[in-house]
Amino acid sequence: MSNQLSITRPDDWHLHVRQGEMLKQVVGNSARYFGRALIMPNTVPPILNGSDALEYQAEILQATQQWPQFQPVMSIKLTMNTTAQMICEAAEAGVKAVKLYPTGATTNSQDGVELSRLKEMAENLVFDAMADYKMVLCIHAEQPSQSVFDREPYVIPFIEALLAWVPRLKRIVIEHVSTAKMAQFVASWPGRVAATVTAHHLYLTIEDLLGEELKPHYFCKPIVKTQRDQDSIWWYLKNNSNFFFGSDSAPHAQDAKEACSCSAGVYTAPMMLPLLAHMFEQHDMLDLLETFVAHRGADFYNFERNPDTITLVRSDEPMIESEESDRNTPRQMPLRKDDRIYWHVAD
Ligand code: NCD
Ligand code: ZN
Repeated sequence: MSNQLSITRPDDWHLHVRQGEMLKQVVGNSARYFGRALIMPNTVPPILNGSDALEYQAEILQATQQWPQFQPVMSIKLTMNTTAQMICEAAEAGVKAVKLYPTGATTNSQDGVELSRLKEMAENLVFDAMADYKMVLCIHAEQPSQSVFDREPYVIPFIEALLAWVPRLKRIVIEHVSTAKMAQFVASWPGRVAATVTAHHLYLTIEDLLGEELKPHYFCKPIVKTQRDQDSIWWYLKNNSNFFFGSDSAPHAQDAKEACSCSAGVYTAPMMLPLLAHMFEQHDMLDLLETFVAHRGADFYNFERNPDTITLVRSDEPMIESEESDRNTPRQMPLRKDDRIYWHVAD
């Protein structure tokens, strides 16, 4: 087995970097390694239009000057107040994606979309405006009124209806796919519907989250599912080029995670590429890592693949897991019991 792997510089098609102090703390962990990241708009206040996106992009670029290859690709949040005009202006400002959060589905999504009113939005040509500019519609596919394990598949008929109402809308991404049912649905719309896959949904199951002791750092939306769901996602990732990488690295202060009411989100950015290499090696799929993290997403989003490479090295010493002592800063996802990662990114 090779101890070294050079791959096209990867992209992260679903990333939370927050704002202000938190942004400065976390963004370097992605900007150092990645070419592009699709920046999620569920900040406080949210990113709702082109000028919000430009301002936010400037803040990110300011914080990542030492990694000039890093390109934050911007998204805006769809709300019940988004108009076709706002979509056009955002596209003109360079925004590539529009994120649909069903109301209350996850962190900072109270101002999201009522799935029952999607038709009304379609009639107001909001989705046609996206199609005009070849924007990508990214969907957090969970309906929070349903039971946690059913939330994701419940959304499938709403997406099917949308695909029928707006035939011109050619690119939809189901974010952080977590169930076998949704993976199967994505595969049934080749080229038109794709999925991002996170490292933590490939790594953890519900057993890891709450089978022994409750692990707040493993809690996210959508919640990690069964071994069967995870196996299915691995299978589609292996066999279907519409499944590509989006980390959904979602930092919250340690205080907010280790609390009576634990915020949803797993912070993986600092360990991202070593963790992926580790898992792909265990699945005997290291040869697929490059296409998953660096080719498929760029192809789907109509970007050139990154021109340079990064090198991963397998060493004899395991990664040391940092335990964050400052409770205002996020803590990276702890590894599973007795697990060790030997991969790291070469300087
Ligand atoms: C994300 C966050 O914290 O912003 N949380 C999460 O559990 N994944 C939001 C999201 O992508 O759902
Ligand atoms: Zn997310």
